[in-house]
Amino acid sequence: MDFWKGESTGLLKALHILTADGKLNADSRRKLKQVYHLTQLIEPLIERIESKNPDFKIVDMGAGKSYLGFILYDLILRRSGQGQIVSIESRPELIERSKQLALDSGFDRMSFLPSSIQDAKLNGSVDLVCALHACDTATDDAILFGIKHEAKAFALVPCCQAEVARSLESVKETSANRALYDFPIHRREFGSHLTNVIRSLFLQSQGYKVTATELVGWEHSMKNELILAEKISSPEHPKSKEARETLRALLEQFPVKMSLFTGQTII
Ligand SMILES: C[S@@+](CC[C@H](N)C(=O)[O-])C[C@H]1O[C@@H](n2cnc3c(N)ncnc32)[C@H](O)[C@@H]1O
Repeated sequence: MDFWKGESTGLLKALHILTADGKLNADSRRKLKQVYHLTQLIEPLIERIESKNPDFKIVDMGAGKSYLGFILYDLILRRSGQGQIVSIESRPELIERSKQLALDSGFDRMSFLPSSIQDAKLNGSVDLVCALHACDTATDDAILFGIKHEAKAFALVPCCQAEVARSLESVKETSANRALYDFPIHRREFGSHLTNVIRSLFLQSQGYKVTATELVGWEHSMKNELILAEKISSPEHPKSKEARETLRALLEQFPVKMSLFTGQTII
């Protein structure tokens, strides 16, 4: 494992990333590489957050087996001795396993909440919201959760997303725009692209500085876009207003429905 710089191979075995005899299978290697790479990319963000608030809180949404939380803790939080990570996951059996593993590993600043993101109750504000391959619209739920809890930053790697592609199907417009998504394969790809553009503009409209990049080489995963957002101003700032205007204009051209906008008047 040429790239792994974590301290505990025991942890990787417990996460079933390594086999009992210390080997990696291809799927696990891909996953570990993604999580490790994401951890490296967000480390400077965590350092900036930590310098302002040593008691910072990271929330991992749709955490699954909490790979990201465990690896962030192993590589960053353990060393610095500061900060906490909360994993939110709707499958209680995954939460129970992770709780036990955190206990066995002595990772006492990790906690686990068995809940959907929409219903998750967490007191106070959060610093960093992560969502790695949270299914379909769960990324939008993570964004709304973060806005509600005044997140300083987001690290989002969206999963496959069908909501906008479905919505595009019923947009009966005749302009040349239709050609962008008339075939189902184009609709899927364009829908996914449009979703992430809308998410990025929405975050910008809330005062976040956004970058969208590739997480790892495409040979490792098709779900590979990383959206990083860091709060730098308010929704009233002229740049935020400009992003809101762009978003409004885009939605006029592509009048899709997204759960990101359910019940709110932000745009
Ligand atoms: C594809 S897995 C990714 C897990 C993990 N983030 C990773 O990358 O290894 C998506 C996880 O999100 C959870 N999930 C999906 N929608 C959710 C929601 N609305 N609230 C909480 N968890 C959700 C699923 O149960 C699943 O464990």
